[in-house]
Amino acid sequence: MKSKVFKAMEIIENDASIFERKIITKNIADLPDGEILIKVSFSSLNYKDALSSSGNRGVTKNYPHTPGIDAAGIVEESSSDLFNEGDKVIVTGHDLGMNTAGGFGEYIRVPADWVVSLPESLSLRESMIYGTAGFTAAISVHKLIGSGVNPEDGEVLVTGATGGVGSTAISILSKLGYEVIAATGKLEEKEFLQSIGAKDIIDRKELDDASGRAMLKGRWAGVIDTVGGNTLTTAIKSTKYGGSVTCCGNVSSPEFSSSIFPFILRGVSLFGIDSVQCPMKLRKEIWSNLATAWKFDHLDHNVHEVTLDELSDRIDMMLSGKHVGRTIIKHG
Ligand SMILES: NC(=O)c1ccc[n+]([C@@H]2O[C@H](COP(=O)([O-])OP(=O)(O)OC[C@H]3O[C@@H](n4cnc5c(N)ncnc54)[C@H](OP(=O)(O)O)[C@@H]3O)[C@@H](O)[C@H]2O)c1
Repeated sequence: MKSKVFKAMEIIENDASIFERKIITKNIADLPDGEILIKVSFSSLNYKDALSSSGNRGVTKNYPHTPGIDAAGIVEESSSDLFNEGDKVIVTGHDLGMNTAGGFGEYIRVPADWVVSLPESLSLRESMIYGTAGFTAAISVHKLIGSGVNPEDGEVLVTGATGGVGSTAISILSKLGYEVIAATGKLEEKEFLQSIGAKDIIDRKELDDASGRAMLKGRWAGVIDTVGGNTLTTAIKSTKYGGSVTCCGNVSSPEFSSSIFPFILRGVSLFGIDSVQCPMKLRKEIWSNLATAWKFDHLDHNVHEVTLDELSDRIDMMLSGKHVGRTIIKHG
């Protein structure tokens, strides 16, 4: 096993129980066991990374820790038949960056069954512009399509529209011919949202129903919700007969309430989306779609490429809800 040092962001809990972010030097001998050692070219910033970077024990139990739930790079050592030295690969989800040292370091070591080969028509950089956010958006779109929501069925609502999941969902849906309505708390980002394919933009306040009614006028053929809370409650109440709703996130709240009526009177379906343990067969299919038919022209639009040293500011922006688009981290 090689002994080599590399740069990484380390989250350290100090004596006053305050979590600090430091850029430190680590040794690859200190990485966890695993069949595949990867030299990371790019990582990306997700909401979960922002939580891990601020000491959230719901995401990361033990500190010091290197976050980064996404990594794309080149295999440097492999003891598995599945991958060879020099292969370009992607790792997202599983335990990467949660309790396993993640992509905010220049090297990761992981089990072979966490690793996906980079599709031919995607660069390592592009794969991290998608990252877990884009991958999750794509699973959500896959669910909507699989549940029978077609472009001709009507408007599809995307919440948390300027976020990583929301903005990628808008881009994919629009590329596939859906009429997308973007719900945002940042109305000043209207032009950006239109440029990525939103037909119309609504204030997220419009999705905060307090009427107490079990159902509202049916508007949405489909919904991709990324925020949870009363936004999700309101979206379910406003979904048309036979429509589908996906939920993946909880930036607004992990709680939501609903009567049974949208489900039994309108046949509405609610799908939970999990990117972490997504089975390998679906994982490969989703990455293949992202590399081909679902790849949109403006993938590089509103991407902030930073170094490890510049990452902390972007994490703070995400924690304060001011982050727009995607942040990717370029190593070395
Ligand atoms: N289930 C999974 O496998 C999975 C995978 C990836 C992400 N997620 C979850 O999905 C969610 C979105 O992730 P992301 O990477 O897109 O995060 P992000 O880039 O930080 O975007 C979240 C967006 O939500 C909106 N928002 C922020 N605070 C809000 C509030 N208090 N109420 C309502 N909306 C608010 C903002 O958009 P606007 O200002 O445009 O409204 C913000 O840009 C997170 O909860 C994340 O943990 C889950």
